[in-house]
Amino acid sequence: MSSSQPNHDPSSLRSSRWFRPDDLRSFGHRSRLKGMGFDDQDYRDRPIVALLNTWSDLNTCHSHFRERAEEIKRGILQDGGFPVEIPVMSLSEMLLKPTAMLYRNLLAMETEEVLRAHPIDAAVLMGGCDKTVPGLLMGAISADIPSIFFPAGPMLNARWRNTTLGSGTDAWKYWNERCAGNLCDGEWVEIENCIARSAGTCMTMGTASTMACIAEALGFTLPKASSIPAVVSEHSRLAVATGRAAVGLAWNQRSPSTFLTRKSFHNAMTVQLAIGGSTNAMVHMIAMSRRADLPVTLNDYDVLSRQVPVLANLRPSGKYLMEDFHRAGGLLGLIKQLEELFDASSERADGTRFSDCIARAEVLDEDVLRSKDNPIYSNGGTCILYGNLAPHGCVIKSSAASQELLVHRGRAIVFRGYADLKNRIHSEDLDVDADSVLVLQKAGPVGAPGMPEWGMLPIPNKLLRRGVRDMVRISDARMSGTSYGTCVLHISPESGVGGPLSLVRDGDWIELDVPSRRLQWCVDEQEIATRRDSQPPLTDVASRGYTHLYAKHVTQAHEGCDFDFLEGRDRGREPDIY
Ligand code: FES
Repeated sequence: MSSSQPNHDPSSLRSSRWFRPDDLRSFGHRSRLKGMGFDDQDYRDRPIVALLNTWSDLNTCHSHFRERAEEIKRGILQDGGFPVEIPVMSLSEMLLKPTAMLYRNLLAMETEEVLRAHPIDAAVLMGGCDKTVPGLLMGAISADIPSIFFPAGPMLNARWRNTTLGSGTDAWKYWNERCAGNLCDGEWVEIENCIARSAGTCMTMGTASTMACIAEALGFTLPKASSIPAVVSEHSRLAVATGRAAVGLAWNQRSPSTFLTRKSFHNAMTVQLAIGGSTNAMVHMIAMSRRADLPVTLNDYDVLSRQVPVLANLRPSGKYLMEDFHRAGGLLGLIKQLEELFDASSERADGTRFSDCIARAEVLDEDVLRSKDNPIYSNGGTCILYGNLAPHGCVIKSSAASQELLVHRGRAIVFRGYADLKNRIHSEDLDVDADSVLVLQKAGPVGAPGMPEWGMLPIPNKLLRRGVRDMVRISDARMSGTSYGTCVLHISPESGVGGPLSLVRDGDWIELDVPSRRLQWCVDEQEIATRRDSQPPLTDVASRGYTHLYAKHVTQAHEGCDFDFLEGRDRGREPDIY
C-alpha cells in the first residue's frame, strides 16, 4: 500500500487539516517541518503515523524500544507513511512507586490528548510493562484514532542451575525459602543475577503477558504478536510489519470504534480466563470496555468463569513460560483449542477476521496449550465472590490457590495499612497460626492510594519455618499477576471509602467458600452498626497534585478504577485548527 495508490484520497486524512489549507496557520505548520529538513514529498498527502513510545531508562522491560522504534519507522516508510515518534509516560512496574497503577490513568489521559491534539492519522502504541498496555489502549479507545498495539514481548526463559525461573512467581517462591532458612545468601544472589535474562516483560503469565494476549484478542495487534520474545529477530520483523499495517489503518480509517464490539470484549475475557491470566486484567478490561461504551461487569466474568477452562499451562497457575507458549502456538493456538468458546467472526484493527488466521493456526505442544478435554483447571480458574464483606464483589484466582483452602473458616488478623503490615507480620509475638485469615485494610484505589499489589500478604516467618506456604489472605488491594496463593482481592467497596472491610477487627470469624462464590464476615448486624458509628471520619489521602485528583475521581475496583470524568469516548472533540 502506498500514498500513490489511486483509491487513497489525501484530503480524507485527518492530518490534511493541518497541512493542506492555503492559509497562514498551515504555512506555519509546513514551514516548521521544512525547518526540520523535510520536503513536501516526505509528509504531504501521506498518512502521518505516530509511534507513542513508552521507552525510558528506568523501564527495564522496554529497554529495546529504541531499536524497535526504528524498525517500526522502516515499515511505515515502506508503505508510504510519514513516521513521527512521540514519547509518552513510561510506567515501570518495578521502579515506579508507590505503584504504577496510580499512574495508569495519567498515561491514558496523556495518550488520548496526544493523539487528539497532533496531526496524527494513525498510531503505533508501544507498550508492554503491565499498566502501559491498558493506559495506551484506554487513551486510544477514547480518542478513537486508528491505532495498533505493539507489545514489548516477554523476556527469554531464565535458568538457574538446572531449574527454569519465572519472573515474579519464582522470586516469591525462593524468597519464602530464604525466609524459612532453606536458601543461603550466595544462592539468593545467583537467582538475582539470572532471573531477568533479557529485555522484555515478565515471562510468566503475569499482567504484562495477560494484557498482551488481551490486546491481541481484542484485535489491536497483528496475529501472534502477544508472545513473540522481546529479543528475537521475529520481534524485529513484527515491528516492521506493525509499521506497515499502521499505514493501512490510517488510509482505511480503522479507528477502535470500527472493530471493537461486545463480542471483542467477550472474547478477550474468555482468553484471559483460559490463559489463567492476571486478576489485574479484570480491572483493566472493565475500564477499557467502559471507555468503548461497551461496559462489561464482574457478573459477566462470573458467568464466563463457570464455562471457560484454564488451558494454558503457564506459571503461576501451571508449569511453563511465555517462550514455551509461543513455541506451542501462541494465542492463535490457544484460541483454536477454545473452539466455540471464542467467536472467530470478530474483526481486528486491520480489517481481517480472527477466522482468517485461526484456520491456519497450529498447536505444537498439547502439554503447554491443553485441549478442553485435558485442562489445567476445568472452570472457575478465577472466581468472583460476593458477601457482606464485598457487596460489590471481589476476586480470587483459584487456579493459583491452595485447593484445600478454597473452603475455609478462620479468625481475622487485621493490618491497618501497609506500614502496619510491614511492622508486625514477622513479629514472633503475632498471635497467628496457619488457620488465621490475614486481612489488609487501606490498600484500595483511594485508601492506599492506587490499589497497589499488596494482596499477596507475606506469610509470617515463624509459620514459614514450620512449613506453612499458603494462608487465606483478604484485602482491597491487587496482587501481581505473577503471584499465587489463596488471596482474595479487589474487595469493593474498599476500606478507604468506608466499605465493610474497614470495620473488621482481630478475632472476627471469616468464611471463604469459593465453590459457592461466597465471602462471609460472621459478625452480627448490631455489632457492625456499633462499629460503624464509632468509626473516625474519612480524611483526604492527599491535599494537592495528581494524587489529590486521583483520590477524588478514581472509581472502585468493580468499576475499573478509571477516573469518573474519563469514561466513554469523546469523538466529536476534534481540535479547531486556528
Ligand atoms: Fe515490567 Fe513485569 S516488571 S512486565
